[in-house]
Amino acid sequence: MTRTATESRLERMIARLVTQRALLDWAAERVSGIDGPVLEIGLGKGRTYSHLRRLFPGRDIWAFDYEVHAPAHSRPAPERILLGDFRETLPACWAEIEAPPALVHADIGTESRRADAALARFVGIVMAQRLAPGGILLGDRDMSSPGLVPLDPPAVALPEGVSAWPYCVYRR
Ligand SMILES: C[S@@+](CC[C@H](N)C(=O)[O-])C[C@H]1O[C@@H](n2cnc3c(N)ncnc32)[C@H](O)[C@@H]1O
Repeated sequence: MTRTATESRLERMIARLVTQRALLDWAAERVSGIDGPVLEIGLGKGRTYSHLRRLFPGRDIWAFDYEVHAPAHSRPAPERILLGDFRETLPACWAEIEAPPALVHADIGTESRRADAALARFVGIVMAQRLAPGGILLGDRDMSSPGLVPLDPPAVALPEGVSAWPYCVYRR
């Protein structure tokens, strides 16, 4: 189904969450043979972090945000949370996160896709250099960059009447 002007914000939220869960499940399978931590760029309320935690029980998961909004049960230990603007924390984090990440989930969007475009490009440029070979970047915005191969997202089964939520998938 294609998006229509009559779709409610609730329906769009349902599409987003169903898409995120499906893509995180798919990506976990896809990177199962690649060593490395997982990065959650945009910890927010910790919803997708809590799903990643379940998918990757044995891996380090590092989370990034301006500040902590997530409840204690849905966020990493303080030493795995890097606070500040992504433009500063992402270039600086590699002294701590030594291994190249196998999976990066970048959920950075606001209500203005236009305003998010430059930040999304920045995330793509950093991850083109830092992802593990074969690693996956899932982005809620266009994060295209030389060095990242765009992949067709897997099909997501959505509830009747709910349209697809656009997500961008890349492999290094
Ligand atoms: C869409 S929310 C993340 C939702 C989260 N993944 C979840 O499932 O609950 C985006 C988050 O990115 C953070 N954010 C946006 N731009 C940022 C920036 N430049 N630096 C640091 N954090 C930023 C916001 O504070 C917000 O918490």
